[in-house]
Amino acid sequence: MHPDDPAYAGQAEYTPALLAVYDTLVLRLMARAVWRCPTPPVIERYRRHLGRRHLDIGPGTGYFLDKAWPPTGLEVTLLDPNPAVLAYAARRLAPRKVCTLEADVLKPLPISGPYDSVALNYVLHCLPGPQPRKAAAIRHVAAVLAADGVLFGGTVLGLPAHHTPQARAVLRMFNRQGGFDNLTDDQQGLRDILEASFRTVEIELVGSVAHFSATDPHPR
Ligand SMILES: C[S@@+](CC[C@H](N)C(=O)[O-])C[C@H]1O[C@@H](n2cnc3c(N)ncnc32)[C@H](O)[C@@H]1O
Repeated sequence: MHPDDPAYAGQAEYTPALLAVYDTLVLRLMARAVWRCPTPPVIERYRRHLGRRHLDIGPGTGYFLDKAWPPTGLEVTLLDPNPAVLAYAARRLAPRKVCTLEADVLKPLPISGPYDSVALNYVLHCLPGPQPRKAAAIRHVAAVLAADGVLFGGTVLGLPAHHTPQARAVLRMFNRQGGFDNLTDDQQGLRDILEASFRTVEIELVGSVAHFSATDPHPR
């Protein structure tokens, strides 16, 4: 991704060095201590929604797919603008076979699907705001989802949400640094961008995080 692209900052920090400590630092420590959203139930949620033809957008280290992968076969595509992420996650998931695709979810996706499930886990808070601008990502997912497929994921909400003082400080720091762009993201805004592309939307708040699922995409 070109450094001038508004979405550049949200994916640039996932270097091999950060990816090597990400699971421990972010998914084990910060998820619980800062966002009050422990990771084991998120793995369960991922497992519950996972379909046979699955697209993971912004897979990070591939942690959730690794933990949730069922004994039966899956067809998995990993999509991310950052080649270091794709290489790391594909290596972690080996010898299970995955396709990788270097692409930006804010642009029309260079794949046709249809996928039974699409994960967008902890990605929306990295995309450039304000929140209505993130609707493009949801639209692009809806375009590659099967009519009976599911989009699911979670996102850290911005300052309007219920945070601890410590979480607010981390939010401000990450937004200053550029990895997050979500200071004004709220639950209603999330519902609005999901309902612009899907008829059925469910949102559950856990600590600072909104977990969502969306089914029944509007006809295209
Ligand atoms: C916070 S990590 C989440 C990783 C993983 N999904 C998880 O839940 O652990 C954000 C991921 O989104 C990716 N990402 C950021 N901007 C993106 C964009 N515009 N399109 C697709 N992926 C993006 C990053 O490269 C990274 O893999």
